Amino acid sequence: MATSETRGAAVMTPTKGPDKAVAVRLENLSKTYPGTDVPAVDTLSLDIADGEVFTLLGPSGCGKTTTLRMVAGLEVPDQGDIYFGDREIVITERGRRVPPEKRNIGMVFQSYAIWPHMTVEQNVSFPLKTRHMGRGEIKDRVANVLELVGMPGLEKRPGPLLSGGQQQRVALARALVTEPRVLLLDEPFSNLDAKLREQMRAELKHLQQRLNIAVLFVTHDQIEALSLSTGIALMNLGVVQQRGHPRLLYEEPANEFVRDFVGKTALFKGEVRTANPSGQVAVAIGGAPDCVVFGRSYETGKLEDGREVYIAVRPEDLEIMAGDSGAAPSGTIGATVVTALFIGERLEYEVEVDGQSKIQVYGPRHAPFEETDRVWLKIRPEGHSVWPSDWSHVASINEDP
Ligand SMILES: Nc1ncnc2c1ncn2[C@@H]1O[C@H](COP(=O)(O)OP(=O)(O)OP(=O)(O)O)[C@@H](O)[C@H]1O
Ligand SMILES: [Mg+2]
Repeated sequence: MATSETRGAAVMTPTKGPDKAVAVRLENLSKTYPGTDVPAVDTLSLDIADGEVFTLLGPSGCGKTTTLRMVAGLEVPDQGDIYFGDREIVITERGRRVPPEKRNIGMVFQSYAIWPHMTVEQNVSFPLKTRHMGRGEIKDRVANVLELVGMPGLEKRPGPLLSGGQQQRVALARALVTEPRVLLLDEPFSNLDAKLREQMRAELKHLQQRLNIAVLFVTHDQIEALSLSTGIALMNLGVVQQRGHPRLLYEEPANEFVRDFVGKTALFKGEVRTANPSGQVAVAIGGAPDCVVFGRSYETGKLEDGREVYIAVRPEDLEIMAGDSGAAPSGTIGATVVTALFIGERLEYEVEVDGQSKIQVYGPRHAPFEETDRVWLKIRPEGHSVWPSDWSHVASINEDP
């Protein structure tokens, strides 16, 4: 477990370069709900720059909504501070707390659908009316924001006569109409079907790039997180496990939780050939000693030559080829197909690797294998992650350790 010093040190470095202003800074936020003894959020620190989509990702109950609600002002942290730019929003020690309506945020929460008894215009203009804005300006702003979310001219449409996707866009328009500095989105697409979700994802990305505001996005859907975000904090049990660019979490997971939550993994047993201090490790795959591949480890100090390790390989970094009853050729490892699932764009196989365990591999549609077929597996030579076989602790390793 990382100490609070390492978390504190990491947060002082902006996630983007110095040219980008920090729009939101969360410092050591903690929250334990009354009647519970485990923190819902535990010393969480993050920086989000203008123009960034920062995603809180993690399993149900890991503290995503609680974090968002603290940023919105709907929940009071027990500890920690929140800044929007230079503005102090929450300073716990001094009892400073800007009320939600003065924070200049837009919110779309899963449970905050649009108001069904109102038209599109009434829904979107509501936050402006509460600010006593003039009618002319309200009309202009509503028209502009509807244009922005791709629903021009639908002002008079009653809420119930909208599709699910249109309702989500109205909710987004209502969140944007006040021109917030920060947009908070809590699982905004979770009610939509898969196709519409994909479309909304792309639209949100375009919209966000045009507006250049900071977005704090909550999801437990890793595809949404990987595709939309400039940065991700993967949380578990209220604690950030790793923070950084989506590629960093996918390609260099800080611990087993991150490795197994983000994407799929095939684990091979192997033996360290060489490990250099920068974290590159050469591993000979168990049962195929002339099959040597390279991976990254955060624990090179523990990886003396000959040490037994696991190497974690993403399924797309494995090639499956026709085999036979003989020995696997040099540089490959033998396996037997256990199940073959045709899923449209590819086949997904479960294979039993010789001398190892069962793993998942993808193969092309045009060269299918069947159950019990012998196959050879070729592992991409590099780009994997390496884990001591007794690895059990959870380290909190950030982008800037
Ligand atoms: N009002 C509350 N009172 C007590 N405990 C709460 C309350 N709200 C949330 N919790 C607890 O705090 C923890 C974090 O909850 P939170 O809603 O932040 O999770 P989440 O990551 O948003 O999960 P999900 O993906 O299911 O929405 C959970 O253990 C939850 O049971
Ligand atoms: Mg939630």
